[in-house]
Amino acid sequence: MAHNLLEWCNAEIEGLRSRSLFHMPKVHESAVGPRVMIEGKRVIQLSNNSYLGLSTHPRVVEAAKKAIDKYGVGTGAVRPISGTMDLHVECERRIARFKGTEDALLFQSGFTANVGVVSTLSVEGDHIISDELNHASIIDGCRLSKASRAVYRHKDYAHLDELLREARGAKGIKGKILVVTDGVVSMDGDVADLVPVADLCEKYDAIPMVDDAHATGVMGEGGRGTVHAQHVHERWTLTVGTLSKAIPVVGGYFAGPKVVKEYLVAKARPFLFSCSAPPAVVAAVTACIDVMETEPQHHQRLWENTKFFKDGLKKLGFNTGQSVSPVTPVIIGDGAKAAKFSATLLKNGVYAQGIYFPMVPEKLSRVRTIVTAAHKREDLQEALDIFARCGKELGLI
Ligand SMILES: Cc1ncc(COP(=O)(O)O)c(C=O)c1O
Repeated sequence: MAHNLLEWCNAEIEGLRSRSLFHMPKVHESAVGPRVMIEGKRVIQLSNNSYLGLSTHPRVVEAAKKAIDKYGVGTGAVRPISGTMDLHVECERRIARFKGTEDALLFQSGFTANVGVVSTLSVEGDHIISDELNHASIIDGCRLSKASRAVYRHKDYAHLDELLREARGAKGIKGKILVVTDGVVSMDGDVADLVPVADLCEKYDAIPMVDDAHATGVMGEGGRGTVHAQHVHERWTLTVGTLSKAIPVVGGYFAGPKVVKEYLVAKARPFLFSCSAPPAVVAAVTACIDVMETEPQHHQRLWENTKFFKDGLKKLGFNTGQSVSPVTPVIIGDGAKAAKFSATLLKNGVYAQGIYFPMVPEKLSRVRTIVTAAHKREDLQEALDIFARCGKELGLI
């Protein structure tokens, strides 16, 4: 039996490998930062989501160490049994204040936050309408829900209108309708328009939800996210986010009305049945929020670097798609070529990960770049020079 399994895995992997779609993760041998050690070589990092460069911020590191000294390394329980410490409660209070919501709830990851929120709040008789480019965790949340569902073309709000009309009309949905979108799309760096989403939700009595994984710490004043950036906080119901990107620790959260939080506490399966975040993690997250609220220079620097690098790639003649955020794709259009480009960049001193099917359609295969506040101008100029050299060598520009 086990033998069959091994043969099956092998055949599957060979199938992927033959299409250049099998990649083991690159092992990093140093802390997160603008330059990292990979395969014994120091290279410029352009594939990490620590947008504000807080992974090694002294206040954050100190908070984690202090939490270990006082509380030890783990909680040893799920939140509802004996896994809730004062640290978790304080962290949730700070997330809610930062996001301008009534309350917040921690999850173990952004993935489990999306799965938990979508599948718990949408039940039989309800309906979910999801943007086609939404993150895998939203898709899995939809799959776990007993609600019916529909998918609208990316950012096509006329299509969303049509699907909502159909749901309330021909489909006869009497229950709740959840409309869910990523704030910043992780592979493309473009941003959802929340005003038409809020308008349509009001028109059809639906509930708006945004996943601000790539937007928190990045978009809007002080990095408060897309809801703030687009001034829809009065009209917005549900926000989910991660604690593994601009807040570069680990975990996820829901931010929204207190009563929704209470329902999730009672019903959300990842919250009920999986261990709570360890003290060092929670204390580090709270310290990151402190830093975001008191040191605006990181956010400002992130955007200066974003403009410099994005303009540089465009001037070189690369196709950077629709990005308006620090996530800038360099679209190559062929998985094998994108893999070759990524490998050539690494040989020459830049780590920019290739992104292929199934993460994006084959014809949109790309190398994805992410700049952070921690990059110095010299890092980014050197990276642009390497992109130029390697792009010419492979005939991409
Ligand atoms: C848009 C989006 N949502 C959710 C997640 C999941 O977050 P986490 O890594 O905290 O599970 C990610 C992570 O890649 C993401 O890009």
